[in-house]
Amino acid sequence: MSDLQRQLADIEAKAAKAADAADGLEALRQVEARFLGKKGSLTQIVRSVGKLPPDERAQVGRLANEAKRRLSEMFAAKRRARTEKAADAEREQAAAYDPTLPGPVRPRGGVHPITAVQWELEDVFERMGFIVEAGPEMESEYYNFEALNIPSWHPARDVQDTFWLTNGLVLRSHTSAMQVRAMRKYGPPLRVVVPGRCFRNETVDASHETTFHQFEGFLVDKHISLSSLKAFLQLMLREVFRRDVKIRLRPGHFQYVEPGLECDVNCLICGGEGCPTCKQSGWVEMVPAGMIHPNVLIAGGIDPHEYTGFAFGAGLTRLAMMKYGIADIRLMNSGDLRGLIPPERLSGPALNRTMPSRGVGAS
Ligand code: DAH
Repeated sequence: MSDLQRQLADIEAKAAKAADAADGLEALRQVEARFLGKKGSLTQIVRSVGKLPPDERAQVGRLANEAKRRLSEMFAAKRRARTEKAADAEREQAAAYDPTLPGPVRPRGGVHPITAVQWELEDVFERMGFIVEAGPEMESEYYNFEALNIPSWHPARDVQDTFWLTNGLVLRSHTSAMQVRAMRKYGPPLRVVVPGRCFRNETVDASHETTFHQFEGFLVDKHISLSSLKAFLQLMLREVFRRDVKIRLRPGHFQYVEPGLECDVNCLICGGEGCPTCKQSGWVEMVPAGMIHPNVLIAGGIDPHEYTGFAFGAGLTRLAMMKYGIADIRLMNSGDLRGLIPPERLSGPALNRTMPSRGVGAS
């Protein structure tokens, strides 16, 4: 075999090897250019034929051209094979696609225990014809105190260590601030609940926070008495704890109710036997309430001779802690995700709610 034949065989072998190793059509095209392109190694040989002495030209030319034809055919065949393979893969993928399969499931986040209890309560009261209101968190001194029969000199102000703002407003210290606003907005008869954030200058510990949630409720109509209030409290607590709870009413003082009372719940932890949670008494103070004071009705533009009403101010944070057995209030505001309730533990309406509270944004 001549030198030339050896050289051509060598080029063909290298080209075949490189073509096999090429991954994809573009890589294959580049390999082809290395051998058959303008500067390709075989092309150089074909070009050099013209410079040879005439007697060698014909034979070398023939050998080189034959090699070129074989290489071209080899590359064309490989290109076809690659194209078919790609098409096969595409067809396979298309066949595997099933448009009837359900889409990817979006993971559902957990719900804050306060939100869960709030939604449940909103639902219970909405079914009984109550309007859900939010009210402003930045409140005037008038609605937060004055309108609730708490004049500036009254010691009842001292029990709510209030954040006063430089613009003369306060961060509402209780959701009761919404009572007179709602009376003026809707007039009697009315049924309103106000879930919302309240603020007080508390020293933070396991059961006190500067920011906490309350759930206020009030109803004004004809012939409303303490027994109506008792029935509503009983119902509300039964719904929150999803079992029959025993309640006890005892006198309590709040400037905006007369008579005022404290509603205690038979301790859910020990069943009334006595434990650290209920301070061995068997009862846990749960909801302060009372019959709306005539002065408050008057502030709301309602005639106390014609209408009576009741009001209660449940600690939503407290209810949530009791319901879900959360011992430290600091877990509630910390942003600690361990405090969230996984969707599978939610019950009732909270399970299906994805919208923000209906009260939010309203006023
Ligand atoms: N506003 C009171 C508080 O934050 C709670 C309260 C007591 C609300 C009696 C009421 C009520 O509506 O009647 O401590």
